[in-house]
Amino acid sequence: MAGRLAGKVAIVTGAGSGMGRAGAVAFAAEGAVVVVADISEERATRVAERIGNAGGDAIPWVADIADSDAVQRLMRGAVDQFGRIDILYHCAADVPFINSQDRRLTELPEETWQRMLDVHLTGTFLCAKYAGQQMLRQHAGSIILTATVDALIGTAGFDAYTAAKGGVVALTRSFADGVGSEGVRVNCICPGYVATESQMRWLADPAARDVIDRLHILPVPGPEAIAPFAVYLASDESAFVTGGIFPIDSGYMAFKAHLGVTDVVQGGAGS
Ligand SMILES: NC(=O)c1ccc[n+]([C@@H]2O[C@H](COP(=O)([O-])OP(=O)(O)OC[C@H]3O[C@@H](n4cnc5c(N)ncnc54)[C@H](O)[C@@H]3O)[C@@H](O)[C@H]2O)c1
Repeated sequence: MAGRLAGKVAIVTGAGSGMGRAGAVAFAAEGAVVVVADISEERATRVAERIGNAGGDAIPWVADIADSDAVQRLMRGAVDQFGRIDILYHCAADVPFINSQDRRLTELPEETWQRMLDVHLTGTFLCAKYAGQQMLRQHAGSIILTATVDALIGTAGFDAYTAAKGGVVALTRSFADGVGSEGVRVNCICPGYVATESQMRWLADPAARDVIDRLHILPVPGPEAIAPFAVYLASDESAFVTGGIFPIDSGYMAFKAHLGVTDVVQGGAGS
């Protein structure tokens, strides 16, 4: 298939849902062969079938990204079948676990802390390590990690998640520096709120939605709105972009919140 990613082999983790699924679909539409990796066989299969039905090229792959052996099998499997790995888009995360189990650290059980790091930081390390080794052999590749705006600005009650994703932000820069001279690029997308299935439980509540809307300049996007930026980072169009931390966040990082502060301050000054 022709397109901006024609001839490239992409691995997308967490590709069964949300931003991973949207990225996998967009990569395939741009001509990449996509390994649709997810811990859920049913979701991975459904997304790979959807891509196939649209004329794209994809295979489902079941892997727990917190399991080193499973991650190594995933990378080896992609190379055995397609000969190389050009793109890693790492999206896998246990969002229901984050939303229901994270806490202020004084109340955070140690097992919750450990599980959060295992899935969201060690999982990133494992995927980047084993995809990166193949990319170094090729002297080419683009690694796209996923953190969150919560790693860039404090959010009470999410201490384990912010620590794990803060680690992802930090390793994006140091790993990008470490592999840049050997043809491998590493970048990180930091979404704001994105209306994925796992977030709809509260985004569907009008009161919660109102609060969340006020944290963004632009409307809260769906996952398909993040995918074009992932396509850009995956493609050769971003050949001079590495070590970048990109808030793709409807303006979340740009301002405080729509709380009417200006009215209070300027109203007070004028009176
Ligand atoms: N949705 C948001 O508002 C939001 C905001 C900021 C950052 N993020 C980050 O963006 C990324 C994608 O989030 P999303 O909302 O699209 O997620 P999602 O819940 O829609 O999809 C995540 C996918 O990952 C899979 N998964 C879970 N644990 C796994 C494991 N151990 N191994 C392999 N696959 C596993 C799930 O089965 C699911 O299909 C995550 O890294 C998340 O932390 C999300």
